[in-house]
Amino acid sequence: MGTMPEQIPLILDVDTGIDDALALLYACASPEVDLLAVTCVAGNVDARRVAWNTRAVLEVAGRGDVPVVLGREQPLVKPLVTTPETHGPTGLGYASLPEPSRALEHSEAADRIVELARTRPGEITLVTLGPLTNLAVALEREPALPSLLKGFVLMGGAYKAPGNTTPTSEWNLHVDPDAARAVFAAWRPDLDGPPMDLPLAMGLDVTEHAILRPGHLGALARRAGASLADAGAMASEPLRLAGSVAANPVLRFIGDALRFYFEFHEQYDGFYGAFIHDPFAVAAALDRSLVFTQPVFVDVETGPGLAHAMTVADWRGTTGQPSNLDVAVAANADAFMERFIDRVGGLAEARSGVAR
Ligand code: BDR
Ligand code: CA
Repeated sequence: MGTMPEQIPLILDVDTGIDDALALLYACASPEVDLLAVTCVAGNVDARRVAWNTRAVLEVAGRGDVPVVLGREQPLVKPLVTTPETHGPTGLGYASLPEPSRALEHSEAADRIVELARTRPGEITLVTLGPLTNLAVALEREPALPSLLKGFVLMGGAYKAPGNTTPTSEWNLHVDPDAARAVFAAWRPDLDGPPMDLPLAMGLDVTEHAILRPGHLGALARRAGASLADAGAMASEPLRLAGSVAANPVLRFIGDALRFYFEFHEQYDGFYGAFIHDPFAVAAALDRSLVFTQPVFVDVETGPGLAHAMTVADWRGTTGQPSNLDVAVAANADAFMERFIDRVGGLAEARSGVAR
């Protein structure tokens, strides 16, 4: 019997979303994660839908016990724009999941983040996978949050890479650039204050190297114990769900969600597969050796125009401002993909006997 790895207390802030759903599965499949709460924010879909999706996905993973907390339903300043063309009208592609049985928590996301951080100062890692609205509100309520958390990892921004929403901006930043600007400013090191680690920024520079293709799904299905023929159908283009794969709640969910995401990427990015941004951010939060980072000063353009919502990184230090982010500039995406297949495939295997 293996020993239990050292536990990492984690809060995930999500806008579930297909790749957010995969990140939830990855977290649930990771033995070192102690998932304290999942907080929800408007982004890919509206916040109430995010909360429904999040609870439904956690139940697929067998983690209906994890508290799910509703957060901000609108960005700080801009009106909400969602992205049904990327994630489907419900946010989960072609997947249709049963009504979750556990109710939403009574508290609110920003309060919950602050409360948990105060209860366990210096212990908790916060990972945000959507717009930074909840965190910006939490920082207004508790400006000491950066030193109360052990770490903060975000999926968001495009630091040396082009944007995916406009030529200069990444989706999570584009939904709420005002929140991102406030959050990045809050992590400015105070030379007289307590020391704090810089946030790890997982932007498109690295997350677009995490490309999931049908072949990976075939390997994941095999890892979960599916027959060679059924795994082969999942590895084909277009991917099909057959026999032992269709009967497994985790594999069926992944297949139905990703079929939509693959079609989206085929149309917009020219390949039948998908960038899996959010699970890569969770994986890097758990294991920093997956990424190589550079500290840099970053601000966000909140004004109108071509650079709206751009993460402006001062790589040459021309502003003289101290670094406020550790930006991932290179990553071991292959190691991550292997780990994703192994862990999520293992979770699917463990859930194979569950009737739906
Ligand atoms: C980010 O945008 C969302 O659509 C994804 O879930 C991810 O968090 C990538 O730009
Ligand atoms: Ca997301």
